Amino acid sequence: MRIEENYSLLEHNTFGIDARCHRFVEYDTPEELAQLVGQAPLLHIGGGSNLLFLSDYDGTILHSRIRTIEKLPTSNTQADEVLLRVGAGIVWDELVAHTIDNHWYGLENLSLIPGEVGASAVQNIGAYGAEAKDFIVNVECLNLQNGERRTFSCHECQYSYRHSIFKTDAQRGRWAVLYVTYRLSTHFTPRLDYGGIRAELQRRDIAIEHLTAEQLRQVIIDIRRTKLPDPKVQGNAGSFFMNPIIPRSQYEKLAKLYPNIMHYEVDADHVKIPAGWMIEQCGWKGRALGPAAVHDRQALVLVNRGGAKGSDIVTLCNAVRHDVNEKFGIDIHPEVNFIGKV
Ligand code: EPU
Repeated sequence: MRIEENYSLLEHNTFGIDARCHRFVEYDTPEELAQLVGQAPLLHIGGGSNLLFLSDYDGTILHSRIRTIEKLPTSNTQADEVLLRVGAGIVWDELVAHTIDNHWYGLENLSLIPGEVGASAVQNIGAYGAEAKDFIVNVECLNLQNGERRTFSCHECQYSYRHSIFKTDAQRGRWAVLYVTYRLSTHFTPRLDYGGIRAELQRRDIAIEHLTAEQLRQVIIDIRRTKLPDPKVQGNAGSFFMNPIIPRSQYEKLAKLYPNIMHYEVDADHVKIPAGWMIEQCGWKGRALGPAAVHDRQALVLVNRGGAKGSDIVTLCNAVRHDVNEKFGIDIHPEVNFIGKV
């Protein structure tokens, strides 16, 4: 266990906000974490890639160093199936690389998403037509208020787009993820239907029947790198906003006004609109407001141009939200978690 007092969180948030916390504790086992329960306030973080600190944190910040990967036995009837029980502190993309190296398939489209395994199961990370929930069997947690251990089945996690039971008002902050068990396959089934992947394969002269998981991972990595800023160069937290899900009738009205509006199907009554497109239509792409800016290649991403405080990012966030609402009548919501108060 590592304990620091009056600790800078600069290395623990990809936005590059220089906030401090009263205490910072990294634990190596569930038993060590159990010793810390009941203290308040407590905040559990992962890789800090989805956080915006608005002020210093006057409490204890917890971080997992449980970094085991265990292959579990499977039943003989499921010959292709691979079950992996993974510690919450493993860096997500290291897990993806490790699975592909071992010929365990499924996670390719989720390559290069920042963050750690524990947070990925809270956030239900997703990209290029795949979501973490598609592979999660269960999530083992520890209750930070009373030390109770509980395993949530994938169904009990109530996953939806960037959402889970762990983000609901009733459960938020209550559970620390210890391990996540994934179901992967020894059989590679590429998912290529999300915009851009097939075109990129064609450009590289890769025939789909010969495509390997390593190649697909590389294509995803390259597409992400062209659009998304590297947090080591410019602070950011990936998509700042969620793509709003709206009633189909509202979309149909908007499509009359804006014939080139894009959408993804959700269900018979709802569609999802790319917020990045709307933000771009409002003229915000590449525009700065003080030390915060809208990224010039992907308008869904807000960046720290250097020295921004949490409040600078919030000011920009509110201005963008206001304009999108005024033009399209849609209130977009941050995906990033705000910690503290301005
Ligand atoms: N678009 C624009 N202008 C922009 C950005 C996007 O017109 O500035 C348009 C694109 O042309 C495209 C559509 O909007 O037709 C969607 O864009 P993109 O494929 O880049 O994906 P996204 O909807 O903006 C989501 C996820 C990303 C994920 C990508 C790829 C959310 C909040 N974001 O972004 O996830 O990588 O799809 O699957 O759902 C993240 O969560 O941090 C993240 C990066």
